[in-house]
Amino acid sequence: MQQLLKVAMPKGRINKSAIKLLQDAGYAIPDDLEDSRKLIISAPEVGMEFIMAKPVDVATYVEYGVSDIGIVGKDVLMEEDRDVYELLDLGIARCRMSVIGLPDWTPVMNPRVATKYPNVASRYFRERGQQVDVIKLNGSIELAPLIGLADRIVDMVETGRTLQENGLVELESIFPITSRLIANRVSYRMKNDAIQQLCDRLQTVIGEPVL
Ligand code: PRP
Repeated sequence: MQQLLKVAMPKGRINKSAIKLLQDAGYAIPDDLEDSRKLIISAPEVGMEFIMAKPVDVATYVEYGVSDIGIVGKDVLMEEDRDVYELLDLGIARCRMSVIGLPDWTPVMNPRVATKYPNVASRYFRERGQQVDVIKLNGSIELAPLIGLADRIVDMVETGRTLQENGLVELESIFPITSRLIANRVSYRMKNDAIQQLCDRLQTVIGEPVL
């Protein structure tokens, strides 16, 4: 009997490319998944049930086993250190985590750094022996140096458009980001056939080695 996989899918900007990847891998995912406002979408024809989650929450659902697998950005995994298996680099939603500032930024003692990623930012500056004051924000991070809340920010850069339109520059690139396929540790054992088949099919379209 086919094992039903409960899949945590990220809503928002990754959603479209995640659905396309599954479709390319041969799963006839319903086209209306992207536009639907339903939060739980059953797709028994492909042996899946989708939970439409905020991207930052995907790894939480998977860690607690309410989803067997999930698609999540490496940025979230680096920030949260969740107890999940990271199975595949899906190669979608490519961007990078960077230190950003105003072009005329000059070093100060204990600079303030605004970010959605306080753990990533603290670790990065600690490893460089730099003392900083990290301020957690939840969005529109680029505002912080413009209005004097912070000296620098740590944030994602994808096209660079947000930086350009706000007169900011990328000072250092910290690490590249792509979306990853993750699995709950128990599900990985109990539903190994279905998860392995999914990985095999995905690998034929992404051409990346298993992590
Ligand atoms: C992300 C990120 C940057 C922007 C980068 O924000 O935090 O602000 O995208 O993309 P770009 O290089 O293509 O301009 P998001 O759109 O997720 O919204 P947020 O500011 O509310 O976090």
